[in-house]
Amino acid sequence: MRLLFCGDVVGRAGREAVLSHLPRLRRELALDFVIVNGENAANGFGITETICAELRGAGVDVITTGNHVWDRREIIPYIARAPRLLRPVNFPPGTPGRGDGVYPLADGRQVLVVNAMARLFMDAIDDPFAALERILSAHPLGSVDAILVDFHGEATSEKTSMGHFCDGRVSAVLGTHSHVPTADHRILAKGTAYMTDVGMCGDYDSVIGMQKEAAIARFVRKMPGERLEVAEGEATLCGVMIETDDATGLARRIAPLRLGGKLDPILPPELQTARAVL
Ligand SMILES: [Fe+2]
Ligand SMILES: [Fe+2]
Repeated sequence: MRLLFCGDVVGRAGREAVLSHLPRLRRELALDFVIVNGENAANGFGITETICAELRGAGVDVITTGNHVWDRREIIPYIARAPRLLRPVNFPPGTPGRGDGVYPLADGRQVLVVNAMARLFMDAIDDPFAALERILSAHPLGSVDAILVDFHGEATSEKTSMGHFCDGRVSAVLGTHSHVPTADHRILAKGTAYMTDVGMCGDYDSVIGMQKEAAIARFVRKMPGERLEVAEGEATLCGVMIETDDATGLARRIAPLRLGGKLDPILPPELQTARAVL
């Protein structure tokens, strides 16, 4: 099975990158399933029902989130009736929405997607490792064909620990939240694809997607300053393609993908002939 996962979509620039590239990526990479982290899609903060519909229309199967999930309050009533919009699974019991779901492909294969949030340098939240243990005992690989975990967190140590904790039990553990892609994508010892952070889909001529001046001023002046505004230059789409073995559900391949904007392009070989037009 071929899955594409795209990191935090930031603002209009990030949305445009996903909306413009995804239909073609879906076709040329023969993708079976697409997941996008949308926690910053609405002007940098949160996501709306309209944006969810736009992303779904462009070929996104499931939208994950993170600490910014509730920034747009209108999402609170919507999330309960939106099974393909996930919030971190380890919010306290009683939180609206869901943090995991099993989704069928047209051919009957099933994908389990889990959205969990880390705790180091983040808001206090329930134990993500215990949450994964609980979900994986209910839905082990074999009962579903692929399992993808979006682990949303700050600390590389906690994210790498989650990768090894899930190794051999899920298809991929992919990090989000830092908005900067890491170079450590690999297949772990027992067959799980791993990358500490996939990076954002956003304008990299910025400070993690926000206009530079106001962001720098916050560090220089150490006083409440201007509101952070989202950067609106051309975005780089940052994603990673995972290919799983249908017999085991484990990863055969992990290939980062970067397209457009300020970062150097990285294209899987399947796309390199089409590079000029992308
Ligand atoms: Fe984010
Ligand atoms: Fe985040």
